[in-house]
Amino acid sequence: MLRLIARRVVTARAGGCREGRVGFSSTASWRGRLQGRIALITGGASGLGKATAHEYIKEGAAVILADIDSRLGPQAAEELGPQAQFVPCDVTIEQAVADAVDFTVTCHGRLDIMYSSAGIVGQLDKSDISQLDLDQFDRVMNVNVRGTLAGIKHAARVMGPVGSGSIICTASISGLMGGLGTHPYAISKFSVVGIVKSAASELCRRGIRLNCISPFAIPTPLVVHQFSEIYKGLERERIIEIIDSLGVLKGAKCEEIDVAKAAVYLASDDAKYVTGHNLVVDGGFTTFKHLNLPMPAEVV
Ligand SMILES: NC(=O)c1ccc[n+]([C@@H]2O[C@H](COP(=O)([O-])OP(=O)(O)OC[C@H]3O[C@@H](n4cnc5c(N)ncnc54)[C@H](O)[C@@H]3O)[C@@H](O)[C@H]2O)c1
Repeated sequence: MLRLIARRVVTARAGGCREGRVGFSSTASWRGRLQGRIALITGGASGLGKATAHEYIKEGAAVILADIDSRLGPQAAEELGPQAQFVPCDVTIEQAVADAVDFTVTCHGRLDIMYSSAGIVGQLDKSDISQLDLDQFDRVMNVNVRGTLAGIKHAARVMGPVGSGSIICTASISGLMGGLGTHPYAISKFSVVGIVKSAASELCRRGIRLNCISPFAIPTPLVVHQFSEIYKGLERERIIEIIDSLGVLKGAKCEEIDVAKAAVYLASDDAKYVTGHNLVVDGGFTTFKHLNLPMPAEVV
């Protein structure tokens, strides 16, 4: 029998937790794969972070969206409902990441899942490494690498004493093969995979699992914006068609939900023995290359 009861949940408003009588939860026997878990998602205001927040909530978690975007962040939390809260956070500032983690623990008593999705691509214009703008490189590394590392550090700080937790970082197919992204972006994503392997070797001794996801191109605001810089003036729908046509797996395209479901898996007990792993969500794109052999008839 399905019975709905009012439940006390904590909602966040600028700078603090606030208790309120909002939201309903089901007492039916169905339990989500993340029932009762507490997740902090950097970059949760948009794209893959927001889609993951949505899936986490569907699976029974409460989610804190930590994002630099103080306009989109509260909007996203509002859309996601009473199980979502927003906390302003610039991941390049270590104290801001520490504060977001502490805010989560203050409001909910613990942190079960840390999902780092905050990321930028940087400028597109320079593909010539001899012309590389090192200030631009630093900006990308600061967000994608230092920000991710700060998330791992501070999540581990509060998960360690408890002896459990799942940390998930966002790498990319650009961190698996050369030539798929700009140098700063690709180097930053190769680094994320390296950080995961290095830190997982230690965190496993504290019961904390650390993994990353490497998505294929998905038409999130980040990627649509990037492509609109290349195809100036082209309408959004056409840009999305181009992005969706880049994959190799027939009959499917890579969508936000594919990454969100991978993030549910890695956060859940289904992945209880999975750590140090890079879960590639690319429809096989980086698995193979074909030899461009000439046709026999063409060979004399
Ligand atoms: N969309 C893709 O095709 C794709 C593919 C591979 C990897 N990724 C990675 O996925 C992650 C999410 O990207 P997305 O496509 O969802 O982009 P997005 O732009 O939709 O979302 C990124 C979010 O990160 C936030 N952010 C940026 N800088 C920040 C900072 N300093 N502190 C806190 N938040 C910050 C943004 O405000 C935004 O809400 C990124 O790490 C990206 O590199 C995306």
